[in-house]
Amino acid sequence: MTDEKEKKVIIAIDGPSGAGKGTVAHYLADKFNLKILDTGLLYRALAKIALAQGLDETKTDDIIALADTIQTDDVTQEGLRDEAVAAMASKIAAIPQVREILNTLQRDFAYGDPGDQAGVILDGRDIGTVICPDADCKIYLTADQEIRAARRMRQEGNVCQIEVQRLMSERDKRDSTRKSAPLNAAEDAYIIDTTHLTIDEVCQKASYYVQNSCLPGTLTA
Ligand code: DC
Repeated sequence: MTDEKEKKVIIAIDGPSGAGKGTVAHYLADKFNLKILDTGLLYRALAKIALAQGLDETKTDDIIALADTIQTDDVTQEGLRDEAVAAMASKIAAIPQVREILNTLQRDFAYGDPGDQAGVILDGRDIGTVICPDADCKIYLTADQEIRAARRMRQEGNVCQIEVQRLMSERDKRDSTRKSAPLNAAEDAYIIDTTHLTIDEVCQKASYYVQNSCLPGTLTA
């Protein structure tokens, strides 16, 4: 067996909310037999527990202590997509010690053994820049904010687009201006602006980039 066959691939998908990261990551995970982690759900899981305990983002010591209890299995909890949880996730994601703790979980997932799968795919805000700077393929998805809000609204149903866009704009601003690991495309990321593309077109482009970036024999599609 060659080294190339044993190598497990790491794919990083980053971008703002509503850019299509989740859809693309699931498509690529199915196509290439990759173990998947939506890293935003770790921040959301922590946010949900903090809210349930009546904490706001100023209670940093309590939130840091809670971050130590989070595990990758927590991403399957219900209620993580609620707007209140999303807003709190974005606020606590600016706390550097919280990021350090959740970074360790993400790196353990990324560099751990994916079993009989060809590798891993992580989506988030800082996967290509901080968590896996050596990823085999980095993709940064983006889209106009109005389009992202409209997509979110279609996913979530009975909500007002103007309100969704207002909340999204607040989160975008917080996520891209925070001091610790702000949202940024890695220099070597493929950037896909999904504003005028269908989901299928985005998945095809992403798939092409993955195939072109990974060593022959490392993918199982
Ligand atoms: O992708 P998402 O909307 O589920 O992420 C929720 C929040 O978590 C987002 O506002 C910023 C934060 N986040 C982060 O700071 N770093 C990541 N790798 C993933 C998410």
